[in-house]
Amino acid sequence: MPASPTAVVNLSSRLHAAEPPDETLFATIASQLETRGYAICPAALPAAVSDSLLAALAAGEGEFAPAAIGRGDDAQRNRFVRRDTIYWLDGAQPHAAAWRQWCEALRLYLNRRLFLGLFSFESHLAHYAPGDFYKRHRDAFRGESNRLLSVVGYLNRGWQPDDGGELVIYPDDDQAAGELLRVTPSFASLVVFLSEEFPHEVLPAARDRYSVAGWFRLNSSIGGQIDPPR
Ligand code: OGA
Ligand code: MN
Repeated sequence: MPASPTAVVNLSSRLHAAEPPDETLFATIASQLETRGYAICPAALPAAVSDSLLAALAAGEGEFAPAAIGRGDDAQRNRFVRRDTIYWLDGAQPHAAAWRQWCEALRLYLNRRLFLGLFSFESHLAHYAPGDFYKRHRDAFRGESNRLLSVVGYLNRGWQPDDGGELVIYPDDDQAAGELLRVTPSFASLVVFLSEEFPHEVLPAARDRYSVAGWFRLNSSIGGQIDPPR
Protein backbone atom coordinates (compact mmCIF):
# COMPACT_ATOMS: atom_id res chain seq x y z
CA MET A 1 0.00 0.00 0.00
CA PRO A 2 1.44 3.43 -0.87
CA ALA A 3 2.26 5.69 2.05
CA SER A 4 -0.44 8.24 2.81
CA PRO A 5 0.36 11.87 1.86
CA THR A 6 0.38 12.78 5.56
CA ALA A 7 3.02 10.15 6.29
CA VAL A 8 5.18 11.46 3.44
CA VAL A 9 4.91 15.06 4.67
CA ASN A 10 5.71 14.02 8.24
CA LEU A 11 8.72 12.07 7.15
CA SER A 12 10.14 14.83 4.97
CA SER A 13 9.65 17.52 7.61
CA ARG A 14 11.39 15.30 10.13
CA LEU A 15 14.31 14.74 7.76
CA HIS A 16 14.70 18.46 7.28
CA ALA A 17 14.41 19.27 10.96
CA ALA A 18 17.86 17.80 11.66
CA GLU A 19 21.04 19.66 10.68
CA PRO A 20 22.30 18.48 7.29
CA PRO A 21 25.25 16.13 7.89
CA ASP A 22 28.70 17.68 7.59
CA GLU A 23 30.05 16.01 4.48
CA THR A 24 33.43 17.73 4.85
CA LEU A 25 33.98 15.94 8.17
CA PHE A 26 32.74 12.65 6.71
CA ALA A 27 35.11 13.10 3.75
CA THR A 28 38.04 13.66 6.14
CA ILE A 29 37.14 10.55 8.11
CA ALA A 30 36.81 8.50 4.91
CA SER A 31 40.16 9.53 3.48
CA GLN A 32 42.01 8.99 6.77
CA LEU A 33 40.39 5.55 7.08
CA GLU A 34 41.36 4.74 3.52
CA THR A 35 45.02 5.68 3.91
CA ARG A 36 45.74 4.66 7.55
CA GLY A 37 42.80 2.65 8.88
CA TYR A 38 42.00 5.26 11.52
CA ALA A 39 40.86 8.86 11.71
CA ILE A 40 41.44 11.43 14.48
CA CYS A 41 39.32 14.58 14.39
CA PRO A 42 39.77 17.05 17.25
CA ALA A 43 36.68 19.04 18.31
CA ALA A 44 34.67 17.52 15.46
CA LEU A 45 31.42 16.23 16.96
CA PRO A 46 28.60 18.62 16.03
CA ALA A 47 27.39 20.68 19.01
CA ALA A 48 23.87 19.24 18.69
CA VAL A 49 25.33 15.77 19.23
CA SER A 50 27.77 16.46 22.05
CA ASP A 51 25.41 18.80 23.90
CA SER A 52 22.52 16.34 23.86
CA LEU A 53 24.75 13.52 25.13
CA LEU A 54 25.96 15.83 27.91
CA ALA A 55 22.32 16.57 28.69
CA ALA A 56 21.70 12.81 28.99
CA LEU A 57 24.56 12.59 31.48
CA ALA A 58 23.37 15.63 33.41
CA ALA A 59 19.81 14.26 33.58
CA GLY A 60 21.13 10.96 34.96
CA GLU A 61 19.11 9.39 32.18
CA GLY A 62 20.69 5.97 32.25
CA GLU A 63 21.86 3.41 34.76
CA PHE A 64 25.59 2.96 34.28
CA ALA A 65 26.69 -0.60 35.00
CA PRO A 66 29.87 -2.68 34.68
CA ALA A 67 30.30 -4.07 31.17
CA ALA A 68 30.36 -7.73 30.29
CA ILE A 69 33.39 -8.82 28.26
CA GLY A 70 32.54 -11.40 25.63
CA ARG A 71 30.56 -14.49 26.54
CA GLY A 72 30.81 -16.27 29.87
CA ASP A 73 31.18 -13.15 31.95
CA ASP A 74 33.57 -13.38 34.90
CA ALA A 75 33.30 -10.34 37.20
CA GLN A 76 36.81 -10.80 38.70
CA ARG A 77 38.49 -10.98 35.33
CA ASN A 78 36.42 -8.03 34.12
CA ARG A 79 37.64 -5.77 36.88
CA PHE A 80 41.21 -6.58 35.91
CA VAL A 81 40.55 -5.71 32.26
CA ARG A 82 38.21 -2.75 32.57
CA ARG A 83 36.82 -0.61 35.36
CA ASP A 84 34.49 1.73 33.48
CA THR A 85 30.71 1.55 33.72
CA ILE A 86 28.55 1.79 30.63
CA TYR A 87 25.05 2.58 29.51
CA TRP A 88 23.79 1.13 26.20
CA LEU A 89 22.04 3.60 23.92
CA ASP A 90 19.45 1.38 22.33
CA GLY A 91 17.47 4.08 20.57
CA ALA A 92 14.87 4.70 23.27
CA GLN A 93 16.75 7.64 24.81
CA PRO A 94 15.65 11.01 23.39
CA HIS A 95 19.02 12.55 24.25
CA ALA A 96 20.79 10.01 22.07
CA ALA A 97 18.73 10.75 18.95
CA ALA A 98 21.14 13.34 17.50
CA TRP A 99 24.10 11.01 18.07
CA ARG A 100 22.36 8.09 16.41
CA GLN A 101 21.28 10.26 13.47
CA TRP A 102 24.80 11.52 13.02
CA CYS A 103 26.19 7.96 13.12
CA GLU A 104 23.57 6.86 10.60
CA ALA A 105 24.59 9.65 8.23
CA LEU A 106 28.24 8.63 8.66
CA ARG A 107 27.33 4.98 7.98
CA LEU A 108 25.56 5.87 4.73
CA TYR A 109 28.41 8.14 3.65
CA LEU A 110 31.11 5.52 4.31
CA ASN A 111 29.11 2.83 2.54
CA ARG A 112 28.77 5.07 -0.49
CA ARG A 113 32.31 6.29 -0.56
CA LEU A 114 34.28 3.22 0.63
CA PHE A 115 31.80 0.40 -0.16
CA LEU A 116 32.10 -0.85 3.42
CA GLY A 117 28.72 -2.57 3.68
CA LEU A 118 28.15 -1.30 7.21
CA PHE A 119 24.77 -2.66 8.24
CA SER A 120 23.92 -1.99 11.87
CA PHE A 121 25.09 0.08 14.79
CA GLU A 122 25.35 -0.28 18.55
CA SER A 123 26.71 2.22 21.05
CA HIS A 124 27.12 3.04 24.71
CA LEU A 125 28.09 5.90 26.97
CA ALA A 126 31.01 5.10 29.25
CA HIS A 127 32.03 6.62 32.57
CA TYR A 128 35.56 6.18 33.86
CA ALA A 129 35.78 7.31 37.49
CA PRO A 130 39.21 8.59 38.60
CA GLY A 131 41.67 5.68 38.37
CA ASP A 132 39.47 3.60 36.05
CA PHE A 133 41.06 2.06 32.97
CA TYR A 134 40.43 -0.30 30.09
CA LYS A 135 43.46 -2.50 29.44
CA ARG A 136 44.81 -3.15 25.96
CA HIS A 137 42.16 -4.89 23.85
CA ARG A 138 40.64 -5.12 20.40
CA ASP A 139 37.01 -4.36 19.71
CA ALA A 140 36.71 -7.30 17.30
CA PHE A 141 38.54 -10.46 16.34
CA ARG A 142 38.82 -11.69 12.81
CA GLY A 143 36.16 -14.26 12.09
CA GLU A 144 34.58 -13.97 15.54
CA SER A 145 32.71 -10.72 15.38
CA ASN A 146 31.16 -8.59 12.71
CA ARG A 147 32.20 -5.28 14.22
CA LEU A 148 34.03 -3.52 11.43
CA LEU A 149 34.41 0.07 12.52
CA SER A 150 34.73 1.64 15.98
CA VAL A 151 33.87 5.26 16.68
CA VAL A 152 34.61 7.06 19.95
CA GLY A 153 33.61 10.60 20.92
CA TYR A 154 34.64 12.48 24.06
CA LEU A 155 32.45 14.56 26.34
CA ASN A 156 34.95 16.16 28.72
CA ARG A 157 35.11 19.92 28.83
CA GLY A 158 38.35 21.60 29.89
CA TRP A 159 40.47 18.43 29.82
CA GLN A 160 44.03 19.27 30.93
CA PRO A 161 47.20 17.48 29.79
CA ASP A 162 47.86 16.10 33.29
CA ASP A 163 44.30 14.78 33.65
CA GLY A 164 45.54 11.59 31.89
CA GLY A 165 42.89 9.23 30.51
CA GLU A 166 44.38 9.10 27.02
CA LEU A 167 43.28 6.51 24.51
CA VAL A 168 46.48 4.74 23.43
CA ILE A 169 46.34 3.07 20.02
CA TYR A 170 48.90 0.38 19.13
CA PRO A 171 49.95 -0.57 15.60
CA ASP A 172 49.60 -4.33 16.25
CA ASP A 173 50.08 -7.05 18.87
CA ASP A 174 53.87 -6.73 18.94
CA GLN A 175 54.44 -5.36 22.45
CA ALA A 176 57.91 -4.17 21.39
CA ALA A 177 56.47 -2.03 18.60
CA GLY A 178 55.39 0.68 21.03
CA GLU A 179 52.51 3.08 20.65
CA LEU A 180 51.03 4.34 17.42
CA LEU A 181 49.42 7.40 18.98
CA ARG A 182 47.69 8.85 22.04
CA VAL A 183 44.39 10.67 21.90
CA THR A 184 43.46 13.20 24.58
CA PRO A 185 39.77 12.78 25.50
CA SER A 186 38.96 16.46 24.94
CA PHE A 187 35.45 17.67 24.38
CA ALA A 188 33.91 16.69 21.01
CA SER A 189 37.07 14.96 19.72
CA LEU A 190 36.42 11.93 17.56
CA VAL A 191 38.33 8.75 16.79
CA VAL A 192 37.27 6.24 14.15
CA PHE A 193 39.23 3.05 13.48
CA LEU A 194 38.99 -0.41 11.96
CA SER A 195 37.84 -2.59 14.88
CA GLU A 196 39.93 -5.65 14.01
CA GLU A 197 43.14 -3.79 13.23
CA PHE A 198 44.10 -1.77 16.27
CA PRO A 199 44.68 -2.90 19.85
CA HIS A 200 44.04 0.05 22.16
CA GLU A 201 43.72 0.93 25.83
CA VAL A 202 42.33 3.65 28.07
CA LEU A 203 44.81 4.99 30.62
CA PRO A 204 43.61 5.92 34.12
CA ALA A 205 42.53 9.52 34.53
CA ALA A 206 42.71 11.90 37.47
CA ARG A 207 39.09 13.03 36.99
CA ASP A 208 35.80 11.64 35.72
CA ARG A 209 36.04 10.79 32.04
CA TYR A 210 33.03 10.36 29.73
CA SER A 211 33.01 8.92 26.24
CA VAL A 212 30.52 7.58 23.77
CA ALA A 213 31.64 4.51 21.84
CA GLY A 214 29.89 2.89 18.91
CA TRP A 215 30.43 0.05 16.49
CA PHE A 216 29.26 -0.39 12.94
CA ARG A 217 28.66 -3.99 12.09
CA LEU A 218 28.43 -6.05 8.94
CA ASN A 219 25.33 -8.07 8.25
CA SER A 220 25.88 -11.72 9.05
CA SER A 221 22.24 -12.77 8.97
CA ILE A 222 21.66 -16.47 8.49
CA GLY A 223 18.54 -18.10 7.10
CA GLY A 224 16.59 -14.87 6.85
CA GLN A 225 17.12 -14.08 10.54
CA ILE A 226 18.41 -10.55 10.80
CA ASP A 227 21.65 -10.57 12.74
CA PRO A 228 20.85 -9.18 16.20
CA PRO A 229 23.16 -6.55 17.67
CA ARG A 230 25.30 -7.63 20.70
C1 OGA B 1 35.77 0.75 24.27
C2 OGA B 1 36.92 1.69 24.19
C3 OGA B 1 37.76 3.93 24.30
C4 OGA B 1 37.59 5.25 25.00
O1 OGA B 1 34.74 1.09 24.89
O2 OGA B 1 35.88 -0.36 23.70
O3 OGA B 1 37.96 1.27 23.76
O4 OGA B 1 38.47 6.10 24.78
N1 OGA B 1 36.75 2.99 24.53
O5 OGA B 1 36.64 5.45 25.77
MN1 MN C 1 37.69 -0.57 22.63
